[in-house]
Amino acid sequence: MEKITSLAKRRGFVFQSSEIYGGQGGAWDYGPLGIELKNRIEGTWWKEMTQLHDDIVGLDSAILMHPRTWEASGHVENFTDPLVDCKKCKARFREDLIPAENLAARKCPECGGEMTDTRKFNLMFKTHIGAAEDSASIIYLRPETAQGIYVNYKNIIQSNRMKIPFGIAQVGKAFRNEIVTKNFIFRTCEFEQLEMQFFVKPGSDEEWFNEWRKRRWAYYEKMGVKMDHLRWHQHGPDELAHYAKDAYDIQYLFPMGWRELEGVHNRTDFDLNRHTQYSGKDMQYIDQDGGNERYIPYIIETSAGLTRTLLMVLCDAYDEEKVADKGNDDDWRTVLRFHPSLAPITVAVLPLMKKDGLAELAKDIRQDLKEDFATDYDQGGAIGRRYRRQDEAGTPFCVTVDYQTKEDGTVTLRFRDSMEQVRIPKEELAARLRQEIKAYKREC
Ligand code: GAP
Repeated sequence: MEKITSLAKRRGFVFQSSEIYGGQGGAWDYGPLGIELKNRIEGTWWKEMTQLHDDIVGLDSAILMHPRTWEASGHVENFTDPLVDCKKCKARFREDLIPAENLAARKCPECGGEMTDTRKFNLMFKTHIGAAEDSASIIYLRPETAQGIYVNYKNIIQSNRMKIPFGIAQVGKAFRNEIVTKNFIFRTCEFEQLEMQFFVKPGSDEEWFNEWRKRRWAYYEKMGVKMDHLRWHQHGPDELAHYAKDAYDIQYLFPMGWRELEGVHNRTDFDLNRHTQYSGKDMQYIDQDGGNERYIPYIIETSAGLTRTLLMVLCDAYDEEKVADKGNDDDWRTVLRFHPSLAPITVAVLPLMKKDGLAELAKDIRQDLKEDFATDYDQGGAIGRRYRRQDEAGTPFCVTVDYQTKEDGTVTLRFRDSMEQVRIPKEELAARLRQEIKAYKREC
């Protein structure tokens, strides 16, 4: 993980938040390459969930919601972690992460000091809205985007004439006051979620649950990640969230071990029943095609972390490859083998020399490609070094402009993964890149 963290900072993927003040734990900033990567992951997910499904629509609901929302959802009461402090060194732990022998002896795993009793700690960030700081002005930063979907589900049925089964997708920030925020951007206090809630008729929920498990697995296959680094984990009774009847996590083999990437949950009619109860509004669906039958739909949820997916994509793409045998640092290259549709830069244009009109020619080629691809231009240093810089940024294609380009209009197209080079007319570049992106299969 250290190598990934350091590459992420060096190349402008992720920076520590407020670094000049010593850093803010649990929060991270996404640099020029990071925001491009994040946008592409989000775009891929959004396309998968909305454009490719006739029965799913999108939503962007507010982060600040009526505080009753979180009473209804059960988060005020149940969204807690068990917290333990060391009386001696003041270290703070989540009880479930303390080794069993330390817990039994109530001894701090760090200094051996005596530990406090376990107490419940609510993970929701609480603040006040308006000028008065009293209990009437309490408001929460949402800990999941899902509730914004539930409170809008009737609006969407009415405005968009949706019929069950149908889904609502949303991407957005969520906030949790996590006790432990280690492993880079894996678990943070401010993060983004990719959530989709699928509303189904009670009784068909188990079938839809299995269907969404299949679809989400297929999505990662399509994304081109290492499938032997993914596995399912079914929640045992002690792991199930207060709203869930059944839940499976898709786990990824991160450098620190197997960890949750996404959850697929059967949330039953829990949330809509509770909103009916707390708001007094009727949340029943009226099935106009089924004799006006009324029921509270069951909900199948797919919930992934966007920032956590970005970490997964970085870990999955990271590779070190021996490319020469000269006995120095240049023998190795660091390469991020992103799928070309996720790579922050799709194509870099490099003039062999700055002089003799090659730079101008290269800039013109870049200009032509800009409309359709994320491009970069680099004229600094030896060409080999420039290729390495692009490899490290995960750029799948480099176009080199040389003296022959001036003569016959051809350029060199270099492939990141194989480092192979082909010579093609510059007019064919855009079509060739589109074809390569579509046909891409990771082979190493
Ligand atoms: N709406 C259901 C829900 O929020 P969750 O399992 O608590 O379920 C879903 O969270 C996903 O959100 C997780 O699989 C993970 O990818 C991401 N996530 C949760 N907490 C996170 C945190 N503190 N930092 C980064 N990502 C987090």
